[in-house]
Amino acid sequence: MTRAHLTIDPHFTVGPINRRLFGSFVEHLGRCVYDGIYEPGHPSADEDGFRTDVVELVRELGVSTIRYPGGNFVSGYRWEDGVGPRDQRPRRLDLAWHSTETNEIGLDEFATWIKKVDGELMYAVNLGTRGVLETLDVLEYANLRSGTEWADRRVANGYPEPHNIRMWCLGNEMDGPWQLGHSTAEEYAQLASKTARAMRQIDPDLELVVCGSSGAQMPTFGEWERVVLEETYDNVDFISCHAYYEPEGEDYGSFLASAVNMDRFIDAVIATADHVKAVRRSDKTINISFDEWNVWYQSRYNEVDKITDVADWPVAPRLLEDSYSVLDAVVFGNLLISLIRHADRVTSASLAQLVNVIAPIMTEPGGPAWRQTTFYPFSLTSRLARGVALELKLDSPTYQTERYGEVALVDAVATHAPEGGTTVFAVNRSLTSEVTLDIDSLALGAVSNVTATSIHDDDIHAANTLEHPDRVAPRQNDSVAVSDGAISVTLPPCSWTVLTID
Ligand code: AHR
Repeated sequence: MTRAHLTIDPHFTVGPINRRLFGSFVEHLGRCVYDGIYEPGHPSADEDGFRTDVVELVRELGVSTIRYPGGNFVSGYRWEDGVGPRDQRPRRLDLAWHSTETNEIGLDEFATWIKKVDGELMYAVNLGTRGVLETLDVLEYANLRSGTEWADRRVANGYPEPHNIRMWCLGNEMDGPWQLGHSTAEEYAQLASKTARAMRQIDPDLELVVCGSSGAQMPTFGEWERVVLEETYDNVDFISCHAYYEPEGEDYGSFLASAVNMDRFIDAVIATADHVKAVRRSDKTINISFDEWNVWYQSRYNEVDKITDVADWPVAPRLLEDSYSVLDAVVFGNLLISLIRHADRVTSASLAQLVNVIAPIMTEPGGPAWRQTTFYPFSLTSRLARGVALELKLDSPTYQTERYGEVALVDAVATHAPEGGTTVFAVNRSLTSEVTLDIDSLALGAVSNVTATSIHDDDIHAANTLEHPDRVAPRQNDSVAVSDGAISVTLPPCSWTVLTID
C-alpha cells in the first residue's frame, strides 16, 4: 500500500482565508448570461426574467465576488448600451466571440441579479477600445448617489441606490494578441496608471486590479508584470493571474499535476511584485486577484466551436460548453488547493465561468439546470475552508510527468477555525493506485469526529449530463480511522477528498 504522511499544527499559519477566494465570473459570452442566468420565458423565471433554479444552484455553490461583464467581451463593450429603457438599447457586434449582443442585460440588471445570490459585484472596465473618461462615467453611474449627469441617469433608470462596487478590473488580458486594443506592457501600464489615478479622484478607497499576463505561457510573462507594476504600483491593489488547463492527448499524469504549474505561476508573480516593492522601497504589498482559472478544453473551442463565418453573428450561441469529468473535477479541486495554499497573497479569485460557459452549472433552455462534476469540489471547499490556511508538512511519494518533471502523488492543504474545526483537502494524482494518507493530528488535541467525502469514480471520464445529471456526486469515504493523535484515510486513485476534523 502506498502511503503519504501529513503533519498538521494549527500554530503554523499561512494567512486568513478571504471569502473572495471563492469568486466566479459572468461574461457576456455564449449562454452564460442569455439562456443561462437570464431566461424570461423559463418556468422558473422570476419577475426580472432570472431563472430561480440557477439562483438556487449559485447560492449552493457558495460564490462570493462575481467578475462582470468580461473577459475578452469587455474590450469592445460600451457599458452605456446596457442601461436605460430596454427597447432603446442597441444590438451590437461582439467581436471577441463573433456574436450579437442584444444588451438586454447590463450593469443595473446584473446588480439586481447578484443581490439574489448574495454575491459581490467586481466590475471590469474597457481599456481595450476605451479609456479614462468612459471609466469615470461608469464609476459615477455605478457608485455616486445623485446630483450629477450619470448618477442621475441611474436614478432615472429606476435604481435610486448606488451599486457601490468596490473591486474594479482595469481592462482584461491586455497582453493577448487576441484582445481588442492589445497593447505593449508600456502602453497598457500608462493607461492603467492614468485610469487608476483618475478613479481614485472620485473614490480613493476603491480596490483596483491591474492586468497581469493572460497566462504564464505568454512570451512576455514576468517582464509584463514588472513593467506594469513599476508604473502602477502606488495606485493599484491587485495584479491579476489567469490560468486554464487541459490534457495534452492522453497525458493525464501531467494534467493531474496542473496545480504544480499554478503554484509556480503564483510564486513567480509574487516574486515579481515583491521585486518592484523592493526597488521602490515601498511599504505596500500587492496581492493577487486570480480572476480567471479553470479546466478549459480550449483546443476544442479553437478547432470546433469557434465562429469564423463573416455572415454569422448569432445571439447567445453554444460556446465553450465543456462537459466536465471526474478527472477534470480532481484537477479542479487541486487548483483550489493551490489557491488556498497561497491565501496570504491570493486574496481574491474567480472561477471562470459560472453558467454554461466552462461552468459548474449547466442549463437547458426551457429545461433543467444541473451540477457538473466541478460543482462539488467548489461548493465543498467554499463551505468548509474556514479561518486560516495552515502550513503543512507533507511527505508524499512522487511520480514522473512529461510536463512538470517529478511531482508529488498526493497534494493537500488544511484550514483551521478555532470554532469550526480543521479541514483537510487532498488529491491523489495516481491513476491506478490508492494512497493511504496518515495524518499526525497530535497538535490539534482531542479529536472527536472525523468525516471524509470523496469525488472518485471507476470511470475517470464519467460526467453529469442533461440525461444523467446525477451520474457523479461526492460520496462518503468510509476508510477513515482515528487513533490517539493520528488519523488515516484512503484516497482512491484519481480522487479529491475533504476531511472535516472536529
Ligand atoms: O473565460 C474565457 C476567456 O478566457 C475570457 O473571455 C478571457 O479573458 C480569457 O482568455
